[in-house]
Amino acid sequence: MSREPTNAPYPLARPRRSRAAPWRRALVAEHRLTVSDFIWPIFVIEGEGRTEPIASMPGVERLSVDIAVERVAAAAELGVRCVALFPKVAPELKTPACEEAWNPDNLVCRATRALKAALPEVGVMHDVALDPYNALGHDGLVRAGRVVNDETVEKLVLQSRVQAAAGADILGPSDMMDGRIRAIREGLEADGAEDVLILSYAAKYASGFYGPFREAVGADAALAAAAAGDAPKDKKTYQMDPANAEEAVREAAMDLAEGADWIMVKPGLPYLDICARLSARLSAPLFAYQVSGEYAMLAGAAERGWLDRRVAVLESLLAFKRAGCDGVLTYFAVEAAAWLREEQRAGG
Ligand code: PBG
Repeated sequence: MSREPTNAPYPLARPRRSRAAPWRRALVAEHRLTVSDFIWPIFVIEGEGRTEPIASMPGVERLSVDIAVERVAAAAELGVRCVALFPKVAPELKTPACEEAWNPDNLVCRATRALKAALPEVGVMHDVALDPYNALGHDGLVRAGRVVNDETVEKLVLQSRVQAAAGADILGPSDMMDGRIRAIREGLEADGAEDVLILSYAAKYASGFYGPFREAVGADAALAAAAAGDAPKDKKTYQMDPANAEEAVREAAMDLAEGADWIMVKPGLPYLDICARLSARLSAPLFAYQVSGEYAMLAGAAERGWLDRRVAVLESLLAFKRAGCDGVLTYFAVEAAAWLREEQRAGG
């Protein structure tokens, strides 16, 4: 929707007039970041009363389920009303067949039941992909050195059904297998789980920015060990090529046609052009995932005093709104919620 410029020339027009005071800037702000834009990803571990730091994500911890419930309750107090759960699965439960992914009592399912019992008003999102459970580190089953599509999709349906049964509100297929959205949607319908949302990782790129996440869920070691055998060493045969933009429109349109409710672009900041493109071309709720490597860049630079953490983080999150996103998955969600509350109290 392009609009004609209506400004008079300088000095009749002086754009700085609109910027001369906080109240003036607030009146003409085109986009606004609010706490309801956030989904907060958290890492869960076994045990009780336990937290573990993640070296490559300073300030982010893995949490045992009881602590996760406490932290999510505190987040909800600040207005963060949706969390995405990622399990760090014990190495002995990781197998080449990934059976733990559809164990109804696996860690994410138990965490979800605990969260839903304590905080029924908080939305819970799950990742649908086999990598946390795969001895070979990949998002799908590996057969003869290939990550196979259709057999993986069958397993993703099993995984989705137990996740929905455990109380997940949103399923986020992050595996990038072809045809999985339709198969998952049909599986959910068969179980009467028609209110479960599918937020598809529609345009997920084979990115170097997932490194810290793979450390966080312990998938880095499995992937490295698998690559020493005949499994692929990276995810380029299923995740998208960073060289491609128009392909993202096709991927997202395909997922929507298969029954996705919402779509996501991932990573976030390096792919803002993809966010803007999807927002202009498709009519669907759109999210971006500000991934672990983006967190690490911002947090690392701030730790060294090279960036002002608050200013840089809030600016990076507002950028997603400007690019047309409805919301953002961010490890900064709780911290940003507290800053936004302060700003609101101070009157912007
Ligand atoms: C796995 C998955 C990944 C992320 C979310 N789900 C990593 C990957 O694809 O290797 C990355 C999230 C992040 O980096 O913060 N299916």
